[in-house]
Amino acid sequence: MLVLGIETSCDETAAAVLQDGSRLLSNVIFSQDEVHSKLGGIVPELAGRCHVDRIHRVVGQALTEAGVGIADIDLIGVTRGPGLVVSLLVGLNTAKGLAYAAGKPVIGINHLEGHLLAIFLQEQVEFPYLALIVSGGHTDLCRVEGVGRYRILGRTRDDAAGESFDKVAKMLGLGYPGGPVIERLSKEGRPDAVAFPRGMLDKDTFDFSFSGLKTAVRRFLAERNQNLNKVLTDADIAASFQEAVVDILAIRLHQAARLHGLQRWVVTGGVAANQRLGERVRAQAAGQGFQVYIPDPVFCTDNAAMIACAAYHRHRMEPLPEDWMHMDAQANLPL
Ligand code: KG4
Ligand code: ZN
Repeated sequence: MLVLGIETSCDETAAAVLQDGSRLLSNVIFSQDEVHSKLGGIVPELAGRCHVDRIHRVVGQALTEAGVGIADIDLIGVTRGPGLVVSLLVGLNTAKGLAYAAGKPVIGINHLEGHLLAIFLQEQVEFPYLALIVSGGHTDLCRVEGVGRYRILGRTRDDAAGESFDKVAKMLGLGYPGGPVIERLSKEGRPDAVAFPRGMLDKDTFDFSFSGLKTAVRRFLAERNQNLNKVLTDADIAASFQEAVVDILAIRLHQAARLHGLQRWVVTGGVAANQRLGERVRAQAAGQGFQVYIPDPVFCTDNAAMIACAAYHRHRMEPLPEDWMHMDAQANLPL
């Protein structure tokens, strides 16, 4: 079975062709980072326009690289939320147009479900598992019982983990997206240089909070820039901030896994591309019978392969919707 996946929820224009759920024939991702980097963050109208400019070339390239035509595709899976409506609409309308013209079925996919199932592009993880989605818009801890059976155990009460990387990068004048640049800079700094707060870890909940950490970094930078503390470099601050985030995430995972008796952990979403997070989570799990699964970086950050993968698994469980032509983009689509 051949599935064409289309993803345009934020600032990546992406299309992929997946055979039988795990054989990836193509995975095309056009990133708009260059456009948004100059502006220090995503400008929705610009993102929408970039998707319009690119989507047909990206879908065409995905089909060409897979060596297939639209007539060979059995199912189109497209992200319908959550995300920026102006961005989502471009993918959704492209999918509807293709489906209508070629007489193919289309299924709308929740972007978060794409992240939750991305690991299946590489290996089959046995259910149930504990999943941590860490992206630019979400920090969700989730119990995954099976395809379509998700229970949120905790989520961020303010900023998402990726958002905190982006905001701290902006404070340090490093551009957008912040995660990769902070990770790179951190390699030159000391993670124990500043003891930034690990928000909410002492509270009896599986929720997260990153805004206190962000404020602590801002205050620290202001003091340093007033010559009160010249010793520490930007790299030290970046490394200490990153260490606080990965500590919070790893400790929470461990707490939730113990309480819910979940042996398998899946860490996914853009921030899961962070190597230090992978090391820290694996160290937290070591020697206690836990297994840690993290998709390759290209499947952590936004991509259409994970949307095709989710569409494949969804279609095996439930009848295809017949009223797909009326399917809407939904900015806050719940999981
Ligand atoms: O999943 P994703 O590509 O898009 C959303 O669904 O939001 O995640 C994007 C987020 C951004 O905040 C970006 O800074 C962060 O993931 N990110 C990283 C890394 N690569 C991307 N954060 C930390 N370390 C990275 N290497
Ligand atoms: Zn995402």
